[in-house]
Amino acid sequence: MLRQARLSSRYLVLLLTPWPLLSTASAPDASKAAALNSDEFSWHKIAPSDELVWHDCYSGHQCARLKVPLDYENPDGASAAIAMRRIHSVVPHDSPEYRGPILASPGGPGASGVDFIQQFGHKISVIVGPEFDIVGCDPRGISRSTPRASFFEDRAERNLFWSTSGNSITASSSDDALARMWAQSMLVGRLAGERDDGNLRFIHSDYTARDMLRIVEAHGREKIQYWGFSYGSVLGATFAAMFPDKVGRLVIDGVVDSENYYAAECSNNLMDTEKVWTAFLNGCVDAGPTKCPIYSPTAAEIQATVDDLYDSLRKRPIPVRTATSYGIVDYDLMRNTIFVSLYKPFALFPTLARALADLSAGNATGLYQISEAPQFKCSCDLDEFSFENVNDGGLAVLCNDGKRISKSFEDAEKHYRNLLANSSWADVWMSACDRLACMAWPEFPKTNFHGPFVANTSFPLLMVGNTADPVTPLWAAKKMAQGFSGSVVLTQDSIGHCSLAAPSLCTQKHIRNYFRDGVLPEAGTVCSTDSGPFDALLEGQGVEGGGEEAQVVLGGFSAEDRTLLEAVQGLARAWDVPLGM
Ligand SMILES: *[C@@H]1O[C@H](CO)[C@@H](O)[C@H](O)[C@H]1NC(C)=O
Ligand SMILES: *[C@@H]1O[C@H](CO)[C@@H](O)[C@H](O)[C@H]1NC(C)=O
Ligand SMILES: *[C@@H]1O[C@H](CO)[C@@H](O)[C@H](O)[C@H]1NC(C)=O
Repeated sequence: MLRQARLSSRYLVLLLTPWPLLSTASAPDASKAAALNSDEFSWHKIAPSDELVWHDCYSGHQCARLKVPLDYENPDGASAAIAMRRIHSVVPHDSPEYRGPILASPGGPGASGVDFIQQFGHKISVIVGPEFDIVGCDPRGISRSTPRASFFEDRAERNLFWSTSGNSITASSSDDALARMWAQSMLVGRLAGERDDGNLRFIHSDYTARDMLRIVEAHGREKIQYWGFSYGSVLGATFAAMFPDKVGRLVIDGVVDSENYYAAECSNNLMDTEKVWTAFLNGCVDAGPTKCPIYSPTAAEIQATVDDLYDSLRKRPIPVRTATSYGIVDYDLMRNTIFVSLYKPFALFPTLARALADLSAGNATGLYQISEAPQFKCSCDLDEFSFENVNDGGLAVLCNDGKRISKSFEDAEKHYRNLLANSSWADVWMSACDRLACMAWPEFPKTNFHGPFVANTSFPLLMVGNTADPVTPLWAAKKMAQGFSGSVVLTQDSIGHCSLAAPSLCTQKHIRNYFRDGVLPEAGTVCSTDSGPFDALLEGQGVEGGGEEAQVVLGGFSAEDRTLLEAVQGLARAWDVPLGM
């Protein structure tokens, strides 16, 4: 659904989530979740409570809605209700082995922790071990947590807005693309102000960090255990800086430079992006034509083919009809799809290689299907969509968190030029990290926490960074680590966004040891991955002989490691990880 919303709007910055990322403003991932679990559970049936009360939900999970102050400066006033979902620890809570809840955050901003638990909670649980509950929440303003941010009167208006004015523009698609983004962004800010019911100003990371502390306390615990990805690293760093004595275990993975984030700059994310794309080209050369259908003998030749495809789509977009939807494959779609595949190379590189090869033979269906979502239907069932996850929540967090930015078009151009001087992916990033949407944001007082990110925490932080992460460069993990005494940066020698984008037993064992035993890796530890991105084609896609080879690869592992490896590979191969993963 790239075509229905600007790429980012929702999962900007750190965009974690490539999938939902693509699946638009109207993105029914909340509704998808509801449909998948059409048992009798409904969030409407849970009354928000001051104490933590778990209700059975979905299949074998528990859900709760915890009341927290809407405004922490007026704690006895109105409440917000935070929606939470958990997977219970395998060991009983009264066992001496039980280690309490780990809060997992898929980032965004705007991603749903409740959906994250649904899709990946079980695998996360396998990684950290049976001693922990895995808990995900929808941060205030987002999806099932109330009050919700909404700048549109209904779903139809929201979808029309993004499909007619936005459309996944990349700044390089035409001479007026940036000007259009600017104009659209001015409207977004204005609508946000006009439709504000008075609650919008309370939706930001400072208050979400306070909510996280409430969640910890509601569990009867003193200190947090947390694993946050991408923008979830901003939340983690914010929590650690605000409440340094409340840190039990805190992992931030795919680390954002929080200072740059709170400055609303989005300007130093792309340091390693080109490395990931280069890895696609070189990986394809190494993999050969069977595993990589767009193969040529050199990277330069593959690049030339891709450039020809860009040119061709610029001149002649291609109509596509599939069994479930239809749309137009154009330059923007190709650019956005390639960018998103850099987040999850182990899931998408083989598919991308096939889709590009098909495209050069005139068949655009494969490329279209990478980001295909169901055609928007304007449902009359308001209940079904009342907790739908929409762009508005993520934008509220981004714009309330960040410092005010200039409304001038010239300044937007200057920002773009500066980005472009450092990265050829600046054109996609201008909408992926949608800071322009904040230009005309209502002028709420900026009293929220925005640093400094310096603290002696009650337990040292573990930061995890990949050597080639498309949007959260390793550099940022090293920078953030300087402020938190005793923290260690674990380097994963891989491409992709966040550690879970690539299968590494080594990394995930360090993370398990950290949570379970409080052991940090030695400074300078580097973990490698257990397979390459084009190997995925072997196991997943029925290439002859692939099954056997995959078995051999798994052969040398202990039963425990094999279980872990399966979880880790499953995460790396999943397309729709709502993380930046
Ligand atoms: C661009 O790259 C240079 C050199 O790596 C760096 O010093 C500068 O901060 C970068 N600019 C931005 C906006 O990231
Ligand atoms: C185009 O690609 C799609 C998806 O891979 C495939 O199902 C379809 O058969 C192809 N169409 C033609 C005409 O080859
Ligand atoms: C951390 O502790 C050191 C040593 O006690 C002290 O010098 C430093 O100021 C502390 N930093 C913060 C941010 O409290």
